[in-house]
Amino acid sequence: MGVPEQDRQLLVDWANRVIGYQDADYAHSGTADPEGLTGAGRAALALRPAGTTGVDGRPVNPRSRAALADMFGYAHALADRPGSGSLLGRMRGAGLSAEEFETAFFLFAVAGNETVRNALPGGLHTLLTHPDQYRLLLRRPELLGSAVEEMLRFWPPVLEFRRTATRDLELAGRRIRRGEKVVVYHASANRDETVFADPDRFDIRRTPNDHVSFGYGPHFCLGAQLARMQMKAMLRLVMTELPDLEPADGAAPAHMVSNFQNGLKKLPIRWRRSG
Ligand code: HEM
Repeated sequence: MGVPEQDRQLLVDWANRVIGYQDADYAHSGTADPEGLTGAGRAALALRPAGTTGVDGRPVNPRSRAALADMFGYAHALADRPGSGSLLGRMRGAGLSAEEFETAFFLFAVAGNETVRNALPGGLHTLLTHPDQYRLLLRRPELLGSAVEEMLRFWPPVLEFRRTATRDLELAGRRIRRGEKVVVYHASANRDETVFADPDRFDIRRTPNDHVSFGYGPHFCLGAQLARMQMKAMLRLVMTELPDLEPADGAAPAHMVSNFQNGLKKLPIRWRRSG
C-alpha cells in the first residue's frame, strides 16, 4: 500500500477503533507516537475527531465516516504523494469517487489487517489447546494447508456479516422482504452438523473443509489467498523455531469485546530455551 514504516502504528489504531469499538482497551486507541510520524501522519492525527460526541452533542458512531476523518485524510495524503505510481495514486486515478476511494482504503487497511491479526493468535490458540493435533502437525508438516483451513473453520475471525435483501424471497422457510436485513453467522455455519461430520472436533486432516470464514458468493474475500499464505508463513516459523510452544500455565487469553470479530488481545504462551 506504500504506507511508510513510521506511520504503520496509525493503522493499528484505526483497526482497533473500527473493529474494537466495543472494547474499552481499543475503542479510543491512540498508540501512535506523533513524534515518530511522517508529516502526512501528523496531519492525519490533527483530523482525528475529538472525544466521543459530535458537534450536535450526540455520540459519534465509531464506524461512521465522520469518526474516520483522520484515516480518510491520510489515504488522500498518500495518494497525493509525488510519483503517483503508488497503488493508492493509481486507485484514485481509476475513476473512483472520493467516497469509493476512501472506502477501498478502509477495506484494505482494516479488512486486510484486523482479520489476519485475529486469525493468527486464534488459530495458534486452537492448535496449542489441542496438543495431539499440534504434535500431528509437527510430525506431518505437509498437513499445514489443511491445518490452516481447520483453524479458520474452528476460529472464524469474522463472526458474522449483515446483508440487505435486494428482493422479496423465501429462505429456509422464512419470508424475507426487500430491504430487510439478514445476518449471516459464519461461526454457526462452520459448525453445521449437516455439512461437517463431528463439527465440534478440531481435526487438521479434515477434508473437504467447506468453511465460510472468508464469506461466500460474489463478495468472497479478496485477500483469502494472501491471508492463508501469511498464516502458513507464521506457523512454519513457529514449528521450526519454537516447536515446543504451549499455553502459559494459569494465564487465560484475553478476548476482545466484539460481536463482529473473534479477536484475542493477549495470548500468554511459553517455550523452553533450546541448547
Ligand atoms: C484470515 C483473514 C481474513 C478473513 C477471515 C477475511 C474474511 C472476509 C469476509 C468474511 C469477507 C466478506 C465476504 C462476504 O461478504 O461474503 C471479506 C471480504 C473482503 N476481504 Fe477479507 N478476510 C481476511 C483477510 C483479508 C486480507 C488479507 C485482505 C486484503 C489484503 C482482505 C480483503 C477483503 C476485501 C477487499 C473484501 C471485500 C470483497 C468484496 O466485497 O468483494 N481480507 N473478508
